[in-house]
Amino acid sequence: MCGIIGFVGKDEQAAPILLDGLERMEYRGYDSAGIAVRSEAKGLQVRKAKGRLKVLSDLTQGGAELEGVLGIGHTRWATHGEPNDVNAHPHISENGQIALVHNGIIENYLELKEQLLKRGVKFTSDTDSEVVAQLLEFHYNECHNMLEAVGRCLRRIEGSYAFGIICSDYPNALIAARKDSPLILGYGESGNYIASDVTAIIKYTREVSYMDDGEIAVITSNSVDVFDDELTPVDKKRSVVDWDVSAAEKGGYAHFMFKEILEQPEAVRRTVSPRIKDGRVVLDDLDLTADYARGISRIYMIACGSAYHVAVVSKYNWERLLRRPVEVALASEFRYSDPLVDEHTLVIVISQSGETLDTMAAMREAKRRGGRTLAIVNVVGSSIAREADDVLYTWAGPEIAVATTKAYTTQLVLMDLVGLYLADLLDSVEQAEYKAILEEIQLLPEKMDQLLEQVGDVQYFASRYFNHTSIFFIGRNLDYAIGLEGSLKLKEISYIHSEAYASGELKHGTISLIEPGTLVVALGTYAPLFDKAMSNVVEVKARGAEVLSITTESFRERMEKTADASVVVPDSHPVVQPSLGVIPLQLFAYYVALQKGCDIDKPRNLAKSVTVE
Ligand code: F6R
Repeated sequence: MCGIIGFVGKDEQAAPILLDGLERMEYRGYDSAGIAVRSEAKGLQVRKAKGRLKVLSDLTQGGAELEGVLGIGHTRWATHGEPNDVNAHPHISENGQIALVHNGIIENYLELKEQLLKRGVKFTSDTDSEVVAQLLEFHYNECHNMLEAVGRCLRRIEGSYAFGIICSDYPNALIAARKDSPLILGYGESGNYIASDVTAIIKYTREVSYMDDGEIAVITSNSVDVFDDELTPVDKKRSVVDWDVSAAEKGGYAHFMFKEILEQPEAVRRTVSPRIKDGRVVLDDLDLTADYARGISRIYMIACGSAYHVAVVSKYNWERLLRRPVEVALASEFRYSDPLVDEHTLVIVISQSGETLDTMAAMREAKRRGGRTLAIVNVVGSSIAREADDVLYTWAGPEIAVATTKAYTTQLVLMDLVGLYLADLLDSVEQAEYKAILEEIQLLPEKMDQLLEQVGDVQYFASRYFNHTSIFFIGRNLDYAIGLEGSLKLKEISYIHSEAYASGELKHGTISLIEPGTLVVALGTYAPLFDKAMSNVVEVKARGAEVLSITTESFRERMEKTADASVVVPDSHPVVQPSLGVIPLQLFAYYVALQKGCDIDKPRNLAKSVTVE
């Protein structure tokens, strides 16, 4: 979704840095972009353009056209008002002295706009964000102090925001404010930064602070001062981001998605190895006692999209290991469902970005009702990570492609570790089973590497099947759970209609959709139910389906007797098998989308981090 960057330098020009930062946030999804730069000679200069960032870059000759060491930039994902040059940010106040970029939604913007219109203020755009630029000017004219004006303005607005602001009267200062939308302060050698996403500034600095809700920051080239909502100074802790710059770059690959698929063995290794010592799961960051675990009466797993699919897999695995009821819930449904949460409820929230608004709101609702929240998050310092009672990070590194891959598999494996850890506390798992699962988790990176050697096979099947207009994924138990993810991957990047079904359900309705030539991706990796899964494959074959199967070495021979084509994954323990079974599904979606010439890393209508409801 929208991206913000701001820079105030000693001598270095702002515009090229702003454009570079915006380019690094392109993956979040956007429809227009803009920058504002202030210089002594020219005052505030603003350039905006609908469409790809390249248009803005060409318009400003890569930034060279705009002189000045102070500036803000924005990529917009339209919510209020259509995507066009006027609605793009930065928004400028009526007398041209204030430029503002905004992420989030101002809920009472119509009411505020009404009040300003009555005072004769003229608006140019349809956005909620412009209202804040105008309101800020109104308060600035009242008090002639920018910090005070921002404070007054924030007290009047309702909703979520991250703001980057420059004012022509303040030649050396960038002002930032945040509530419910991420904003990072970056400390650099040649100047200081603000950004909504660490990838925008990681090339320039790794030293950052995460702004908290209600905070306002005044940033100059050699100072960063932060205030709370009463304008009292706040001491900010600095952290060092350990992501590698190259991890956020394509490094010769055609697409981030493909690079990230290939990074999975390493990402899993990073997530797992510090958490296994002497054959036991060690979760140093987690403070759950056996007493607490015994008192858990209900476990919720809450997430959206692919992260929700991780929860579906984990429900099967945790119920097997913990012998406790687990409910999975879509965050957007959970928050409005009057959920049964009390102090004996453990609520697991799963999120790559840590900023998904639905997930965050669901987590807050769970906390409000007394539940204990444990977040599984990839982005360090993100809002969900900071608000949860406990957080465990997946060490997947930056995930840039909109379609998640390495975050999904690291979430899966981390959930397995937490499941084992809790089962051990509860004494609900046989030690032999505990050991077998843990051994298989440790072998995963190696088995993933082995599996990734078959990339060519999947590419071939994709070229054979990419013309299908509707594709079904079927499987039982954990295979059904990964089928959901395979189907979502395919839909989102190749735009092919697809559905995932628990194979046993086919005969209750959906088998009527199977006709000669229909492509069915049959998952047969879950050993305990392989025979049952096989009979469903036979059923769809009997109705003329073309079957592409995903199976294991052990079942290869039996599957190949019926399926038209097979991709074979290494055998593992059933609990761990989904982490392998899902990889051919990711690759299949990738290669089908490639054959169809789709914009793989930035599929239409989608954004990487969904910060609106
Ligand atoms: C699909 C995908 C989305 C996300 C979902 C939740 O490939 O990436 O479905 O899984 O939007 O995002 P996070 O995990 O950031 O909360």
